[in-house]
Amino acid sequence: MEFMTVVQNRVSCRAYDPKRVIPQELLVKIAEAGKAAPSAANLQPWKFLFISTPDLLGKVRECYSRRWIDNAPHILIVKGSRTRAWVRRDGYNSLETDLTIAMDHMILAAENYGIASCWIAAFDNEKLREVLSIQSDEEVFAITPLGYSADGGERRREKKRFDLDQVAEFI
Ligand SMILES: Cc1cc2nc3c(=O)[nH]c(=O)nc-3n(C[C@H](O)[C@H](O)[C@H](O)COP(=O)(O)O)c2cc1C
Repeated sequence: MEFMTVVQNRVSCRAYDPKRVIPQELLVKIAEAGKAAPSAANLQPWKFLFISTPDLLGKVRECYSRRWIDNAPHILIVKGSRTRAWVRRDGYNSLETDLTIAMDHMILAAENYGIASCWIAAFDNEKLREVLSIQSDEEVFAITPLGYSADGGERRREKKRFDLDQVAEFI
């Protein structure tokens, strides 16, 4: 797909077809997109968890309160280690930025293959840490379901956004 089409087409999907799993080779392509993301000092402090097995899926779904997630056949978790991330002299740690870029790369790659996603931050972090045995130096800032839209991708809608002149200045 043309890059700007991918960017414009991506929307948060909250209705998945539970019967259509994503072929493994496409999950690998999505992971490759995450791997290609930039990170501060190229430290790549991340790990991408593609969860597809029923037992673990069930546990991870319980970490989010909206039941539409139950229909998504996969959930992608991006986790990373604070101690592996770059730290600026003033103490700024790049972990959240690095992980966010990687997730965005993977969400856009998914869209490129017609795979729907929804950035989720409102998960129960404490529960998720327990379910996934997240170590004390590790963080998860976002998770996303991955799957095919229940309406077959017909859900495209007008994006509600501020006008360009309200958010961009060409100076
Ligand atoms: C940091 C962040 C956190 C979000 N958390 C949630 C969430 O917990 N649940 C949800 O349904 N959508 C969540 N979203 C999706 C936003 O609601 C959505 O991106 C926004 O409304 C714009 O719509 P669009 O993604 O369809 O373009 C989140 C998005 C971002 C960037």
